[in-house]
Amino acid sequence: MAGQQRVLLGVTGGIAAYKSAELVRALRERGCEVQVVMTRGAREFIGAATLQALSGRPVREDLWDAAAEAAMGHIELARWADCVLIAPATAQCLARLAHGLADDLLSTLCLATDAPVYLAPAMNRLMWAHPATRANCEVLAARGVTLLGPGIGDQACGETGPGRMLEPQALVAAVLKDPAGPLAGRTVMITAGPTREPIDPVRYLTNRSSGKMGFALAAAAREAGARVVLVTGPVALATPPGVERVDVETAAELHEAVHRRVGDCDIFIGAAAVADYRPREYAGEKIKKRDATLTLTLDRSPDVLASVAALASRPFTVGFAAETCEVERHAREKLARKQLDMIVANQVGPGRAFDTEDNELLVLWPEEGCQVFARAPKRELAEALIALIATRSRPEDAAVVP
Ligand code: C5P
Repeated sequence: MAGQQRVLLGVTGGIAAYKSAELVRALRERGCEVQVVMTRGAREFIGAATLQALSGRPVREDLWDAAAEAAMGHIELARWADCVLIAPATAQCLARLAHGLADDLLSTLCLATDAPVYLAPAMNRLMWAHPATRANCEVLAARGVTLLGPGIGDQACGETGPGRMLEPQALVAAVLKDPAGPLAGRTVMITAGPTREPIDPVRYLTNRSSGKMGFALAAAAREAGARVVLVTGPVALATPPGVERVDVETAAELHEAVHRRVGDCDIFIGAAAVADYRPREYAGEKIKKRDATLTLTLDRSPDVLASVAALASRPFTVGFAAETCEVERHAREKLARKQLDMIVANQVGPGRAFDTEDNELLVLWPEEGCQVFARAPKRELAEALIALIATRSRPEDAAVVP
């Protein structure tokens, strides 16, 4: 599926290096060529012989190894790679890369490559939370490096929290784009979750959206081979591997984040439950309870979806419609009014749609197009929906879909 992708796997000195062996095997099983580069610290945790046997290539460790450099120099290695994945990436590794050091083979490669660089951080939770590590991650992310994880859970040091390296299978899914996937070569932007509209420093208006559908769509689009940008309100969900995430809080921030990047996108899916109204005034101090009633004046928020659909050069634009009654009629009306290419409608109410694991959907598109997706887990629905969007968003194929 993944073809002969060439993965340069950097292994640095953390206990999670024992998982790197499994990672090499998983990459090889997906048909990749894998070249391992270890740091000096990594040698303390895993033997080069293991990684060499699994990758089928001599492990590279030293920038100053004349024999190895003669066969394939560090610049050739950097050019050879379709992607660089460093797993585990220690706090030290993040700091070195953030500062652009080039005093060992791995850091030099990272400066010399124009292939995408993915890092799978692994460290103690307090090291991960330290302001120095936070700042290094921000610098790296701003330069286009993708951070995969870390996961949250039990750590080798006996503590619990964020800092575990993601499992090898999740890393493989994140770095291997499917060149034969229906969305290969396309960029998809998805909005997800609720927004929060502040009233005062301690209160806000929000809604029941969990973000599960939007996150499932992001994972499915990524698996279908797309580059995925996920713009999300506050949710308690892990970023799907390989997905670029932008966190926002208010509808206005969502609007701004979407329009900053939507110009590069082929497909836009508005799955966020954007607050329609926001308090006109933000009270700088906590509002005191003085009177028996309190009146808030609310103003309309920008309609992000409609504003994307109205762009002169717009992506294939898909909206959601959460309705409590007459689902089809309201959704068709919304499809036409917002000038969408497709709308995904569902009935909401107690125990339905919001914060549930499964859902049922009615998908509509112009000229009476219609498809029903029976009740199923959101993950399955997301896959089916992405397949339909992939087909309908290619005009030459859309004509043959019933
Ligand atoms: O009009 P209604 O809110 O029902 O439309 C729902 C669709 O519009 C969803 O796709 C939602 O993400 C999007 N929307 C938006 N900005 C708003 C309100 C809704 O993008 N302010």
